[in-house]
Amino acid sequence: MSEPRRRSWAEPFKIKMVEPLKMTTREEREAAIREAGYNTFLLRSEDVYIDLLTDSGTSAMSDRQWAGMMLGDEAYAGSRNFYHLEAAVREIYGYKHLVPTHQGRGAEHLLSRTLIKPGDVIPGNMYFTTTRLHQELAGGLFVDVIIDEAHDPASLHPFKGDVDLAKLQKVIDEVGAEHIPYVCIATAVNMAGGQPISLANLHKVRALCNEHGIRIIHDATRVAENAYFIKEREPGYADKSIATIVLEICGLTDGCTMSAKKDALVNIGGFLALNEWKVFEACRNLVVVYEGLHTYGGMAGRDMEAVAIGLGESVQFDHIRARVGQVKYLGEKLQAYGVPIVVPIGSHGVFLDAKTFLPQLDQDLYPAQALAAELYLDCGVRAMERGNVSAGRDPKTGQNRRPSLELVRLTLPRRVYTQAHMDVVAESVAEVYDNRATVKGLKMVYEPSDLRFFQARFEPFD
Ligand SMILES: Cc1ncc(COP(=O)(O)O)c(C=O)c1O
Repeated sequence: MSEPRRRSWAEPFKIKMVEPLKMTTREEREAAIREAGYNTFLLRSEDVYIDLLTDSGTSAMSDRQWAGMMLGDEAYAGSRNFYHLEAAVREIYGYKHLVPTHQGRGAEHLLSRTLIKPGDVIPGNMYFTTTRLHQELAGGLFVDVIIDEAHDPASLHPFKGDVDLAKLQKVIDEVGAEHIPYVCIATAVNMAGGQPISLANLHKVRALCNEHGIRIIHDATRVAENAYFIKEREPGYADKSIATIVLEICGLTDGCTMSAKKDALVNIGGFLALNEWKVFEACRNLVVVYEGLHTYGGMAGRDMEAVAIGLGESVQFDHIRARVGQVKYLGEKLQAYGVPIVVPIGSHGVFLDAKTFLPQLDQDLYPAQALAAELYLDCGVRAMERGNVSAGRDPKTGQNRRPSLELVRLTLPRRVYTQAHMDVVAESVAEVYDNRATVKGLKMVYEPSDLRFFQARFEPFD
């Protein structure tokens, strides 16, 4: 769609209900972050001004979704909302069978238990925290086969979510296809900064997997955002609709795990969708043990209705253009201030490159964690660490993994904040950047055994 040059664009919705925000003083924020052990996950949300912790479950639902909530059929079994959701998944993603779960990790749990045997290897285009943990808990080992450019925050590769086919071939040669239950393909790769995979690459991954009889399971959490980048950047897709591109992506894979809390614009929900009857049947048996009956899987009927409607909204062009456009707006403002960010600007947030931002800090002083705390102190913006803390320890050596990407994620909830909020955020980050030489590192004083980033506590390192 061509844009008249002198016209600004604005959010494609108007605001019907508001939630007032609390403004705090610097002294109040100093007390709050100390009490939270310098971990933004442990702050009380009422002490946060602009909450960019995550885009997960934080979306504003539409009037249609809220209306759908009133149509919740809260029957224990066979709720009509389940059938609506099943039909929506078939129509929008094209997968045959649906297992509802309470959120994404519920789906990952069922899938990992069903498909992974101890000693198996799961190649993927970069790890995600909960996904890898469920693979490991089932006895598997995740192996990263994403292209090298994904680990370089400054690389301008347009599809940093692409798989390196030589790396994938090497894993297959080394361990044998029989020890690879599936290749895990994420769209709009979260840990790489919301970077898309191209359809050209996915077609090649499919061909290689076909040669060896290996499944592809898709982490579809942000598939619509990925589809937007394909439409913008990949030759041959400019005139295709987001819905058509989403269907093509899903059609190249055998099933998906889904956190509906992102693309699907709801506050809670998820599912597993599968084409193979046998795998579906096994997962459907397990859902009853861990989530709930197979026609609700941990969701209320009203939640399933909101997901079904949200899936349809997620592939509307005006929505997705404004969603990704707002991220770009914030990212470009930060670039204008000279702040080092991951490029190209990704789908769901702007990722600050904490290693370049705070070169004085060794990675074991947790620069991204320290930077997230500092941003909160400046004006109450809450961000999230995605670096050495999130990466955890290597199970073999017990050492911090020290990942190549040490990032702070400013994640944008969908349809929640305005461009004016983005201006405030950009100015606050710029202020911290100007004073970066004064930022000190942190030491971890409490470390939970799993997914430590959620609950770890820190103190300033002297
Ligand atoms: C790519 C990706 N996969 C899986 C999940 C897990 O989903 P949930 O938080 O709904 O359990 C997330 C959540 O952030 C995610 O970003």
